[in-house]
Amino acid sequence: MRIQKSVLQSISLLVLLLVLIINITHVSCKSTIEPCSNADSCNALLGYTLYTDLKVSEVASLFQIDPIALLTANAIDISYPDVEHHILPSRLFLKIPISCSCVDGIRKSVSTHYKTRPSDTLSSIADSIYGGLVSADQLREANSITDPSVLDAGQNLVVPLPCTCFNGTDNSLPAIYLSYVVKPIDTLAAIAARYFTTLTDLMNVNAMGSTAINDGDILAIPIPACASDFPKYASDHGLLVPNGSYAITAGHCVQCSCGPQNLNLYCMPASLAVSCSSMQCKRSNLMLGNVTVKQGGGGCNVNSCSYGGFVNGTIITALSASLQPRCPGPQQFPPLVAPPTSVARDSIFAPAPSPLSDGAGSLSPRSSVVPGTRSIPGFQPANGPMSGLTSGASGACSSVKPLPILTSALVFLLVKFMISLAL
Ligand SMILES: *[C@@H]1O[C@H](CO)[C@@H](O)[C@H](O)[C@H]1NC(C)=O
Ligand SMILES: *[C@@H]1O[C@H](CO)[C@@H](O)[C@H](O)[C@H]1NC(C)=O
Ligand SMILES: *[C@@H]1O[C@H](CO)[C@@H](O)[C@H](O)[C@H]1NC(C)=O
Ligand SMILES: *[C@@H]1O[C@H](CO)[C@@H](O)[C@H](O)[C@H]1NC(C)=O
Repeated sequence: MRIQKSVLQSISLLVLLLVLIINITHVSCKSTIEPCSNADSCNALLGYTLYTDLKVSEVASLFQIDPIALLTANAIDISYPDVEHHILPSRLFLKIPISCSCVDGIRKSVSTHYKTRPSDTLSSIADSIYGGLVSADQLREANSITDPSVLDAGQNLVVPLPCTCFNGTDNSLPAIYLSYVVKPIDTLAAIAARYFTTLTDLMNVNAMGSTAINDGDILAIPIPACASDFPKYASDHGLLVPNGSYAITAGHCVQCSCGPQNLNLYCMPASLAVSCSSMQCKRSNLMLGNVTVKQGGGGCNVNSCSYGGFVNGTIITALSASLQPRCPGPQQFPPLVAPPTSVARDSIFAPAPSPLSDGAGSLSPRSSVVPGTRSIPGFQPANGPMSGLTSGASGACSSVKPLPILTSALVFLLVKFMISLAL
């Protein structure tokens, strides 16, 4: 009896200790971690909420991206006069297009640098200026700062930002991933609904064991996208355009759009194209994006001139002919919005997938900058859906909250321990 009791006691103690250790070493999850091995990068998006009124060009320089790319990613009309100097309102939610690389075996973006100003602290840079996309600790680590209280103005800091690629697919369909900072008001179900995805999909992508999310967590949200099949040696290889938006490529010469009715990338000469190489398909009079249709006995003969990537300063065009059962209708374009001037109350807390077009009463969507053409999508990405993707294998991040379970286990063990002592 005596031996049994002491054995029980030591086991209880051991378990108690283990529980305590687990409790102490549990670090709350901040973002989804995607392991990677190759050096290639992918297109990704950051969900960013403006901390103050900023010009389009200022937001772009905060992330060192092209202002035009920022505008087109958010389907903002770039034909507005002086649009780069337009002031965007504080609390506006924007999608920031970035390049996601592989650094030390983990997907992240490291192309952003920030020059410190006199009043900056690591937390003000992390929480306010970069909207919680980075933490003060991550900034300190990435820049080997030993004393965070001494931050000289004019210091050039690298700002590591979260991103994921997951092979550019979600459930075997082309997708681009948005790194989204959870707000206090958010629930996982509401986020899933807002981005037209499911709870299960979000949980799989983020390797979550429960639907619980915390303010400040960073989720990877898959957004359906149009894939490209440009060759590896093209400078815009791997171009991925999210549904409902545009991308400008080939040195501002070509504009590609995605959606709304299908997810075939559609490219045509950009409205601001100047001094560009030829955009005419060889041995034809068709320009990039042009499609001709001819109804015949066997169906509809479709000829199209499509974009094949930017190679050595040359715009690659490809002429294709196909016989389709029915003639396609005119190409439709994602609706463009005017540069926003105010933020609707709703969108402060609940950014819509197309944040600028929904709920913001002051915004009057204008007609497209894209010249209205009679053409139809001529671009059929050859690398369509891929199979065998394991988007669920997203690694280390989990929003499971073991604390309540552990606490009850602790109480239970304590009681048990006391009983065993009393015996
Ligand atoms: C693309 O966006 C449009 C409009 O926002 C939407 O109607 C459509 O369902 C979306 N397509 C996919 C595949 O999500
Ligand atoms: C061909 O494309 C050019 C440039 O987008 C456009 O101006 C022209 O109207 C198109 N022609 C036809 C026949 O669709
Ligand atoms: C691009 O140009 C360089 C030199 O001008 C040449 O070596 C290379 O083969 C070219 N690449 C392609 C894909 O044409
Ligand atoms: C990733 O996508 C490529 C096609 O773009 C495909 O060949 C490859 O098998 C995919 N890899 C995985 C792990 O799914």
